[in-house]
Amino acid sequence: SGLITIDPGFKNTGSTKSAITFLDGEKGILRYRGYNIEDLAENSNFLEVSYLLINGELPTTEQYNDFAGRITNHTLVHEDIKKILDGFPSVAHPMGVLSSLICSLTAFYPNSLDPNNTDEEIKLSMVRLLAKMPTFAAWAYKNKMGHPVNYPDNSLDYCGNFMKMMFSLPSEKYEIDPVISKALDKLLILHADHEQNCSTSTVRIVGSSQASIYASISAGINALWGPLHGGANQSVIEMLEAIKADGGDSKKYLEKAKDKNDPFRLMGFGHRVYKNFDPRAKIIKKAADDVLEKLGINDPVLDIAKELESAALNDQYFVDRKLYPNVDFYSGIIYRALGIPTDMFTVMFALGRLPGWIAQWKEMRENNEPIGRPRQVYVGSTERPFVPIDKR
Ligand code: CMC
Repeated sequence: SGLITIDPGFKNTGSTKSAITFLDGEKGILRYRGYNIEDLAENSNFLEVSYLLINGELPTTEQYNDFAGRITNHTLVHEDIKKILDGFPSVAHPMGVLSSLICSLTAFYPNSLDPNNTDEEIKLSMVRLLAKMPTFAAWAYKNKMGHPVNYPDNSLDYCGNFMKMMFSLPSEKYEIDPVISKALDKLLILHADHEQNCSTSTVRIVGSSQASIYASISAGINALWGPLHGGANQSVIEMLEAIKADGGDSKKYLEKAKDKNDPFRLMGFGHRVYKNFDPRAKIIKKAADDVLEKLGINDPVLDIAKELESAALNDQYFVDRKLYPNVDFYSGIIYRALGIPTDMFTVMFALGRLPGWIAQWKEMRENNEPIGRPRQVYVGSTERPFVPIDKR
């Protein structure tokens, strides 16, 4: 144990061999199972990408129809889960609601607690997760709004069904805008996996204790919630709104971000792995422009985003540290344009990341990986005798 090296944040420690996602941070390359993210975002759809991540290959038409059909058949959730939802106050953050509802599946499908589930049982759990997550995500939003929940519409595709559950009111007819639905599908693809990031490592490490897949995914949702990870997309818009409220001086905030005595960071900038550019950000920036144009949106917060972006890209501090806008810088802009409230942004990220978490959990299990258990270097007090409370 004297030979333990500490690597805070695991910056240089590999935790596993993985065949799912390839990432080259210097060159800005991201591939799922060998396919470039640009290619998938342009030509595939989210369910096909989910199949690819989980099963390793793109599906045939028959495999795709079977997979998508099974997911559609499992969108409904047990009615008692609504009672759990009803217990949350409307101020509850939707990420906490989402992780709780996902964890509640351990109670509704207790056989998932058995580490010896057959492959068929595990497949079913994975289908349930993909099917029910949009329902829970939309319900978390309805709870926040104080609206009645909507039930899934199985005549719609994955994104269409989610949008309808999220945005429609029983009193209104709801038309799905294909441009918006396509943009959403693209966003989900871009978020679908990102190798051993904080939430994925969490899913694998919780799964390595042989906890239920539902408990493992729930833990991943909680890890994603933090502002340095998935929560950054919420923080970006909050930051832009704060700059606007403070007179719109983006230069002032750029200086704050550079000041080492100020904890403020430019949210949506920098990445642990991408030190050139984030390939997802490039695609998403274009998608954001398309959506804004289609919706004819003119939002002063977006002008601040553009100013901040070009100022940072031309600033020596950011250039020296290789800090570029990441996926979260632009995703929040699209979500905002679509009318998705700020505290639902990270839920959207979770919806996209789900197939990645599932694929990584499955790989961890198939590799028979040992329980994750890092070591430490002890720096506390040496041995000392106990002192009774009246003598302290
Ligand atoms: N604003 C100002 N300075 C920054 C920023 C930023 N956003 N990011 C990094 N730096 C500085 C940091 O202060 C350090 O400077 P120095 O070398 O002078 O001490 C240097 O750049 C390296 O930063 P680090 O914190 O050592 O890098 P990291 O790999 O530990 O952190 C990060 C990566 C993403 C957590 C960080 O860049 C950050 O906090 N960014 C803002 C939050 C954010 O946008 N997160 C989303 C990440 S992408 C999607 C996801 O993972 O969910």
